[in-house]
Amino acid sequence: MRRDILHPGAGKLKYEIREIVGFARSLEKWRIPILWENIGDPVKKGEPVAQWIKDIVREKAGEDLSYAYSETEGALGSREFLAAQVNRRPLLCPSAVSPPLSGALNGVLAEPAKVSAGDILFFNGLGDAVAKVFGFLRREARVLGPSPAYSTLSSAEAAHSGYEHLTYRLDPANGWMPDMDDVELKVRYNDAVAGILLINPDNPTGAVYPVEILREFVRIAKTYGLFIVCDETYANIVYGGEGTAALSQVIGDVPGIALRSLSKEVPWPGARCGWAEVYNRHADPCFDAYVRSLLDAKRLEVCSTSLPQLCIPGIMADPRYPEHLARRAAMFARRAEEAYRALSGITGISIVKPRGALYASAVFDPAALADSQGRGRTLPVKDSGLQEYIQEKTRGVEPDKRFVYWLLASTGICVVPLSGFASELPGFRFTLLEHDDDKRREIYATLGDAVRRYLA
Ligand SMILES: Cc1ncc(COP(=O)(O)O)c(C=O)c1O
Repeated sequence: MRRDILHPGAGKLKYEIREIVGFARSLEKWRIPILWENIGDPVKKGEPVAQWIKDIVREKAGEDLSYAYSETEGALGSREFLAAQVNRRPLLCPSAVSPPLSGALNGVLAEPAKVSAGDILFFNGLGDAVAKVFGFLRREARVLGPSPAYSTLSSAEAAHSGYEHLTYRLDPANGWMPDMDDVELKVRYNDAVAGILLINPDNPTGAVYPVEILREFVRIAKTYGLFIVCDETYANIVYGGEGTAALSQVIGDVPGIALRSLSKEVPWPGARCGWAEVYNRHADPCFDAYVRSLLDAKRLEVCSTSLPQLCIPGIMADPRYPEHLARRAAMFARRAEEAYRALSGITGISIVKPRGALYASAVFDPAALADSQGRGRTLPVKDSGLQEYIQEKTRGVEPDKRFVYWLLASTGICVVPLSGFASELPGFRFTLLEHDDDKRREIYATLGDAVRRYLA
């Protein structure tokens, strides 16, 4: 090549959740049945899609316009429906929904943001939205995000800048809550930071942020002139009694974007249908121009897939939908309890009980991972060839990835190392998704046993 054609951010595109699949597949020749605990697809893991939802989709698929392009922003009726939903979210009284946090509140309750259909923008799944939100930011403008973080978000931010993703700490010793001092210090001393990203409920930790934490993010954004991106993929998968809010309910007059999707709550990940809710677009001309660039970028693609968008009002306005969401939340609450029980109380590893989303993350004590004889920890595997293969593949890899490889070879369980989530904490993420109750409990029990053996 006479010119270097590589984008400076190319090396930053990492998606460990799927990369681990390649490694798991390489074990096929030893005939190890893989238990896929890596990907957050409820349907793949056996959850049946509700018949009434399938009926709505079938009916829409019978209409000719479902086969047409939609407007670039998305189908107007669906955007009007979603905008009305945003506008119905109530103003929250913080003390009524969660325990107060010391000093975090300034006592002022801002009005919830109001939007119109023009503030809703559809994408082909949030994967597409994230690529645009970060891809069309000015190179030097950085977005501070959580660590650990869902890797699509952290990788997209890193790739857009060409540098490592800038992060603030989520603290496992404090229920995975964000370290708000860390957030503020990183914002104050780095004027490249133009925005803050949060994920609520969070992937990979399962944390749900109390209203006071959300208000604190808003306060910091307002103080330093930033915008907020809040990934609300799991907004309707909250359990464990945690009170929280949508960004629109606390943002006041700060510019912001919330990202929502059909993937996990319907669930319909194969629809590739997500949308951005833009708040206070006109509060800042630069933010307004940036939002316009997202729409212009989408226009080059014409539009996002029409059928799932057109199904949204029918599904979400159906009187069965609230019951559907409540039933699923209760189901994941039970599974979160099972996952927590299987991995809590083991010396050398800690787990926080998830309160939302579809995952749990366990964190190793780094001291427990170090092997006093310096040989590196292992798990028993049946075949000596496989053992040699894993010995070879684990040479020089991160300590948590080493555990993940041995776990795969020993048990067939495929989890994701926490180091794959822009995190320096060694650990792993697994899902609450296996729909077969016996199989899921067996997976969690095996996971607990494997951790005990590994650290023994
Ligand atoms: C936090 C978060 N954001 C975005 C996505 C992507 O969702 P979509 O299927 O809409 O692309 C996921 C998928 O797992 C996620 O966990």
